[in-house]
Amino acid sequence: MSDLFITGIGHLTTNVGDPDADAVVVVDDGIITYAGSMADAPDQEGRKRLDVSGNAVIPGFVDAHTHLVFAGDRSDEFARRLAGESYSDIAASGGGILSTVEATRSASEETLFDLAAQRVWTMIRGGTTTVEIKSGYGLDLETELRLLRVARRIGDELPVTIRTTFLGAHSVPREYRSDRDGYVELVINEMLPATADLADFCDVFVEDGVFSVDEARAIFEAAKALGLPARVHVEQLSHLGGAALAAEIGALSADHLDHVTPDDAAALAGAGVTCVLVPGAAYTLGTPQPSGRMLWDAGCTVVLATDCNPGTSYIETMGLVISLGVVQMGLTVEEAIWAATRGGALSLGLEDRGQIKEGSPADLVILDAPSPAHIPYRPASDLLSETIKDGQIL
Ligand code: NIG
Ligand code: FE
Repeated sequence: MSDLFITGIGHLTTNVGDPDADAVVVVDDGIITYAGSMADAPDQEGRKRLDVSGNAVIPGFVDAHTHLVFAGDRSDEFARRLAGESYSDIAASGGGILSTVEATRSASEETLFDLAAQRVWTMIRGGTTTVEIKSGYGLDLETELRLLRVARRIGDELPVTIRTTFLGAHSVPREYRSDRDGYVELVINEMLPATADLADFCDVFVEDGVFSVDEARAIFEAAKALGLPARVHVEQLSHLGGAALAAEIGALSADHLDHVTPDDAAALAGAGVTCVLVPGAAYTLGTPQPSGRMLWDAGCTVVLATDCNPGTSYIETMGLVISLGVVQMGLTVEEAIWAATRGGALSLGLEDRGQIKEGSPADLVILDAPSPAHIPYRPASDLLSETIKDGQIL
């Protein structure tokens, strides 16, 4: 049954101007056909009535930045960091991304699918209806392809919309340690062309000791020729100029941004680059958060995402992320909810998602609370009553 007549809505967040009291949402064949006041609503006839008893209805969350296809366990690194080692120290001593690469390379496609599907089911139960998934724990052609196939299969088999990103330039793999130019050439000449059919976007981790701004520029040029827009990991652990690069090349998104400056913010806003903030990472690493307030006030399109990954942010659901966006990044509740829904959709080029509007897919969340403020206010409570994906109540 995908034809719904949703009433009893205590608070409706549409992201296109909230209708007044007594709002109704109507869904036909998985598409929203009406969102507005009861007085102007079409007839209920033939549609299933869903009375949400004064609870809030918001668009499904759009998680625009995850690395959720991986194997292995890095909880030991979390303990090491708590004891004083830094993320970079652990990476330099053989841990970090490369330890997940080792575990992921030796996992079968079926195992990787099962692990990833479990994480995505947790996301769906948390109200997420669209997820971006990056590769980047293969760092060889065969494994990168496997990760992207798994990501696409998640979208085929689970009730969730998936967008995939090729992140072969996530780290230089061990076998290229003494030939980093060789690895960048491999990414450009072999991996990108071979993965392009399975990827919607291309990403590079621009960071001191990982990939330089010039290396990233070369990779993004090649990606652009294959039709893949850029999303970029920038200014996470240091300020290297990745945000300026994102603005220069007109990237779709600049992500992380922990060390972003006001000049970067002006450039990103001017170039229309969406700014994907992932507060779970700095929270888990115990480092300062970037200012969401500063970016928002500079005119940037601010996005909130989980960054779900085994190293810096093993967080699947958006509630905690929204809470951190409000409490630690200076966003208002309304801005944080927008950033986790409409902002994510814009960042993925999904113009019709992240909003409750006639003609948009019916991706909705019914809260077990009267207003969205309860999400950041009660971050450890399960406030999700129903997730509705393409009109289906999950
Ligand atoms: O987004 N910054 C790079 N990549 C991930 C971390 C990857 C890992 O530690 O496994 C991130 O934080
Ligand atoms: Fe990330």
